[in-house]
Amino acid sequence: MALVDVSRLPHHVAVIMDGNGRWARAQGRIRTDGHAEGSHAVRRVVRAARRLGVRALTLYAFSEQNWNRPRVEVDTLMELLRDYLLRERAELLEHGIRLRAIGRRDKLPARVREVLDPLERDTAALDGMVLSLALSYGGREEIVDSVRALAAQVAAGRLAPDAIDEPTLASEMPSLSVGPVDLLIRTGGEQRISNFLLWGSAYAELYFTDTLWPAFDAPDLYGAVAAFQQRDRRFGRVPSDVGGYAGPLAPHGLPQAGE
Ligand code: FPP
Repeated sequence: MALVDVSRLPHHVAVIMDGNGRWARAQGRIRTDGHAEGSHAVRRVVRAARRLGVRALTLYAFSEQNWNRPRVEVDTLMELLRDYLLRERAELLEHGIRLRAIGRRDKLPARVREVLDPLERDTAALDGMVLSLALSYGGREEIVDSVRALAAQVAAGRLAPDAIDEPTLASEMPSLSVGPVDLLIRTGGEQRISNFLLWGSAYAELYFTDTLWPAFDAPDLYGAVAAFQQRDRRFGRVPSDVGGYAGPLAPHGLPQAGE
């Protein structure tokens, strides 16, 4: 098993959970069985990340573009999500995991929101780890929404256009409140970002694995973190000069200037 240095963990790990459909097909089962198995992988990986000491985990559970999938598949994913939120409640509370959703939540069915809202509320003060579920989420959409929010402030005379800088824009993006992404994992063999955390992944280390999401387990997460720890993160600077992300959202867990 990969050796992980727990003193140099990525602060924010994000995962594009791909390959549920192919996993199901390989088993001679229907696509939605792959999603059901994928929800068990979610449970395992959340537990493993928490145990490891990762501070923020963001999972791409349903993209804005996933609404275009067949109705039966969308309905199944929403039911699985509801089941997951109901089933994991005790575990999240016990392990100090704050759960929150990022994305256009108003598009989610009431059946999901009625379990999501209280779980977000009841875990809001927990600080063991922040688990963000990207639901009806798109990276471009998040940027558009934050630009709209700033434009409204400008229109109301509360913000000068010249005062808008990167931190101002990032402060409107819910995905950034846990800091930029350090490690972005994609399962399932494809090597693309697929409109996930576009802004926050600007300096993320990318890790692609052929493992299909339902088969992804704790050792795979450790392997990804170990690979991350082999990388030389320069943030556009020369090696001797690197001190970690210099912005206001600097995560702990990265070496800071002077260290
Ligand atoms: C991509 O696999 C996966 C998704 C679109 C949804 C991810 C959902 C889960 C892991 C389960 C439910 C989530 C939670 C939080 C309980 P794909 O269907 O595109 O796979 P394929 O590329 O093999 O077809």
